Amino acid sequence: MATQARPQPLDGLFPRLFATRKLTLDLAAPLSDADATIQPFPDASPAKWHLAHTTWFFETFVLRDHVAGYQAFDERFAYLFNSYYEAEGARYERPKRGMLSRPSLDEVRAYRAHVDEALERALPGLPPAALELVELGINHEQQHQELFLTDILATLAENPLEPAYGELPQPVCFATEPLAWHRGREGIVEIGARDDGFAFDAERPCHRVFLAGHEIAARKVTNQEWREFIADGGYSTPTLWLSNGWACVQQEKMTSPLYWREDGTQFTLGGRRAIDWAAPVAHVSFFEADAFARWAGARLPTEAEWESFASSADPHLGNQLDAAAAVVPRPGGGIFGDVWEWTQSAFSPYPGFGPAEGAVGEYNGKFMSGQLILKGASCATPRAHSRASYRNFFPPHARWQFTGLRLARDA
Ligand SMILES: [Fe+2]
Repeated sequence: MATQARPQPLDGLFPRLFATRKLTLDLAAPLSDADATIQPFPDASPAKWHLAHTTWFFETFVLRDHVAGYQAFDERFAYLFNSYYEAEGARYERPKRGMLSRPSLDEVRAYRAHVDEALERALPGLPPAALELVELGINHEQQHQELFLTDILATLAENPLEPAYGELPQPVCFATEPLAWHRGREGIVEIGARDDGFAFDAERPCHRVFLAGHEIAARKVTNQEWREFIADGGYSTPTLWLSNGWACVQQEKMTSPLYWREDGTQFTLGGRRAIDWAAPVAHVSFFEADAFARWAGARLPTEAEWESFASSADPHLGNQLDAAAAVVPRPGGGIFGDVWEWTQSAFSPYPGFGPAEGAVGEYNGKFMSGQLILKGASCATPRAHSRASYRNFFPPHARWQFTGLRLARDA
């Protein structure tokens, strides 16, 4: 007897789950146990921790909560690999994640295999609520794949031997394309995720906002333009900076984007290489992006302006992560990919926002303070993870992600 086909959107869920789980393992393949144990600074996590925490997420919210008789791989791991879920109890201190030489990388791989096998057995019989958590777990793991790459970049950048994570081709020297401006929509527009398809809770509900007359740059700010900003005293002119931004510049003795060296090279996942001047600038904070925009006689776009601008673009195109390999922003890309783009908008709830039910309600909502929205996708974002309504967020001083900007201005 023919079995009945599963209804959409669950078709494709299981292959996507196991492809996502495999990509994380592939990302870790070039690393030694020591590489995977280092935590370069408190906001970044060791590679090994990412491998284990994404596994804990499935073990806890899918297997423990929805599969009768599931046996945890190691009951003690919940304390080590819970990130920030208060409802899940006490956890190991975040700034000390790099102190964990045990479990070893191989033990963490065994933990992953244990959970993957249990998921494979359980999936065909899971109720819809659990399948939604599998979907959330896939998207969660994709977010950690990006963090994995940016955190290992920060780790390797600490080492004077300048080890490469992987190979990158040398840049082809394109000229920066001239800056063109796009007239934005004016009036009432809809932003946020509609009810079809996966989106994080913070992207909903879809709602109307008013856009005043404005223009938005057709491309992102490039390294060449950033070099001009530096040459013009950008990092030594306090009047260009927000007060908190200027404090950061002074405290960290900041003179360029993170990873730039004074000899025209930068540290990348491919080791030290020449700066590609036509590529979008990366590894700048919100404060730096804001100061640059002021220097350029422009401003950062609002989240709604950006989303309206990008609503007809295909978020699956552009320089994004397809396989486990070194990545770097490249010239000539589209709206999605290369670098996330800072906006001037705070990460705050949309009208009618309600967090997801249960412990996963802590996923986004509790971070709606002191964070700025970034839109788009980067070269480290797994392809098909992002969309126009996506709301990435980081504190304004954060620089270790692939973060850049696009200018906007009133019109
Ligand atoms: Fe997480």
